[in-house]
Amino acid sequence: MSLSIHRGDLLPGRNYIGRWCDAEEGRRFDVTDPATDAVVASVPDSGAADARAALDAAHAAFATWRAVPAKQRAQILKRWNDLIVAHQEDLGRLISREQGKPLAEGRGEVTYAASYVEWFAEEATRANGDVIPAPVVGRRMFALKEPVGVVAVITPWNFPAAMIARKIAPALAAGCTVVAKPAEDTPLTSLALVKLAEEAGVPAGVLNIVTASRQRAAEVVDVWLDDPRVRKVSFTGSTPVGKHLARRSADTLKKLSLELGGNAPFIVFDDTDLDAAVDGLMAGKFRNGGQTCVSPNRVFVQAGVHDRFVEKLGARIVALKVGPASDEGSQIGPMINAKAVDKIERHVNDAVDSGARVVVGGQRLAALGANFFAPTLLVGADATMACSCEETFGPIVAVTRFETEEQVIAAANGTPFGLAAYFYSQDVSRIWRIADALETGLVGVNEGALAAEAAPFGGVKESGYGREGSVHGLDDYMSLKYVCQGNLR
Ligand code: SIN
Repeated sequence: MSLSIHRGDLLPGRNYIGRWCDAEEGRRFDVTDPATDAVVASVPDSGAADARAALDAAHAAFATWRAVPAKQRAQILKRWNDLIVAHQEDLGRLISREQGKPLAEGRGEVTYAASYVEWFAEEATRANGDVIPAPVVGRRMFALKEPVGVVAVITPWNFPAAMIARKIAPALAAGCTVVAKPAEDTPLTSLALVKLAEEAGVPAGVLNIVTASRQRAAEVVDVWLDDPRVRKVSFTGSTPVGKHLARRSADTLKKLSLELGGNAPFIVFDDTDLDAAVDGLMAGKFRNGGQTCVSPNRVFVQAGVHDRFVEKLGARIVALKVGPASDEGSQIGPMINAKAVDKIERHVNDAVDSGARVVVGGQRLAALGANFFAPTLLVGADATMACSCEETFGPIVAVTRFETEEQVIAAANGTPFGLAAYFYSQDVSRIWRIADALETGLVGVNEGALAAEAAPFGGVKESGYGREGSVHGLDDYMSLKYVCQGNLR
């Protein structure tokens, strides 16, 4: 099926390094639709030379871009926001086609991506520093905020628009220039966004993007990690890759923002509004078919409401409509690729072999295509199972029964990860006790959908560091310079 978008030029199919260009060696790779595995388009398969060219361009542009008044940078970002919003339908279709999420979610992601661009356009003009009261006579002391320099942006496939927008927007707002590499599964949306950024007036050299296949991605990224001109790396993806980036960039001591894997607990206490808890879990768990870092991965339900909760949840999961993004009624699309489905299947089989019971689903939906898996409800999960220890990244709900608050907090925190956690309770004292006790960067209290451009997004422990969005998000792209003027009479 052809890609039906209004503006064909939103599919440039080339790198952008001050201008639209092919990879130096002329290689290309295919982008496929995960619903059918059919080829949608092809893009450059870049290597070290392309990465270096992008970095040269970003480095050369930095001196002029940082000197552009913040208000002017903000105006360009506002125009970029307006263009993203104006092209919501085309971008939503692109997202759904290369990533697989239902069209309504694809459109929703465009709005979500734009919200970060708008937010950071506004924050650009508020990068205030400090005037510090001097401890001695005859001095004036200041803390000034400066852009860190060239930023390498490396993004995942699960939110092809939102993840790149929420890194590029603060970087440009701060006065940094960018080299970017989108995930090999979903480069088309990122290229379209860069096309719109060019149209919005981002000057040549300020924002550069190169695409690369899985086989060549490391070659591109290693150039940036090793080069001292890259002063910051912003990455969303797996914890093992995040650790590699941190190690490899240690020699040049780059600033890092790492938004890494999660293993979110979702806790339902006896004193909960059960319907609200089911709604929250459905929203959090099945968004993007469970392929989000903040997706509830371990569901703990207190003994007094366990059976009723499972019954209500099962009825909702059975009713989910699975299908390709091209079908407007689909609520769950395909998983991103065969490897993802293999992992989900391994988690379900391991749980069943270890004593869990399948209430709903539990198998591939081969009739729909190779990458579809049935939304699944398992009960009797425990901490030893793969679905409890690893991030499943799929439409699987694994429920564990618990008795006491102490028990569930120990279980919830019993993971190296600390991105998101959720709990449902009507007891005000308990709410603050649990919110304080959870070792995560994000906590949803009676709420399953957390993210917003005005909120700080990021983890603790092995889920990484740095924050995206909010008033703190710009600081990740700036450094503080202390200026002291003395001998004033
Ligand atoms: C992610 O999965 O990394 C991001 C999810 C979100 O922004 O809500």
